[in-house]
Amino acid sequence: MKQFSKACERNEEPIAEVLQELLADIERPLVLEVGSGTGQHGAAFARRFPHLMWQPTNPPGQLDSVRAWRREAGLDNLLEPLEFDLFDEAPPVERADMVVAVNVIHIAPFEAAEQLFAHGARILDEGALIFLYGPYRYEGRELEPSNERFDQFLRARDPRSGIRLFEEVDAIAQSHGFDHVETRRLPANNDAHWWARRKEK
Ligand SMILES: C[S@@+](CC[C@H](N)C(=O)[O-])C[C@H]1O[C@@H](n2cnc3c(N)ncnc32)[C@H](O)[C@@H]1O
Repeated sequence: MKQFSKACERNEEPIAEVLQELLADIERPLVLEVGSGTGQHGAAFARRFPHLMWQPTNPPGQLDSVRAWRREAGLDNLLEPLEFDLFDEAPPVERADMVVAVNVIHIAPFEAAEQLFAHGARILDEGALIFLYGPYRYEGRELEPSNERFDQFLRARDPRSGIRLFEEVDAIAQSHGFDHVETRRLPANNDAHWWARRKEK
């Protein structure tokens, strides 16, 4: 059944503006989306960027809404969603040009972030990007009151979730061969971060 996320609708435009920059120079990029949720982003971004192929994924049993959004969109560049949990041993595709995860790593257990970069290292070529969007903590900076409340809500619901410390995520990325490229502050105290697969010397 098709589900709807208000957050998705709100963050679609700011995320799309960043993706446009990042995807502009890649001829026919295959974008692997981790944790597609409702499936709205895939439908929106595949429509907006006809030159890309969007591959949605979600853990098993959570694909009905993604399929419904895909059916309704009727777009050739929006692929049939695949079952994928970050704790799976193998990535869901053999290669991709970019990995995108929106509002995933503060929901999944912390180890999922490590898995995300480990999978990315298996399927991305040198220079290819992992793009994450969501709320973050930063060393030496107080969490914004809205994110503090959100973090408390998340941890009360599931102690394994919670807003991640950027520096810890970055350390994981580094250890899997990804260098941080840029941070973009987006509305509602959310940030986009992206990392590039390091070139082997
Ligand atoms: C808050 S929703 C965000 C969904 C969508 N990206 C969006 O922006 O609306 C979090 C998503 O993370 C996914 N997720 C949670 N744990 C996961 C895991 N271990 N592996 C893959 N996805 C996971 C959930 O299934 C859900 O789709």
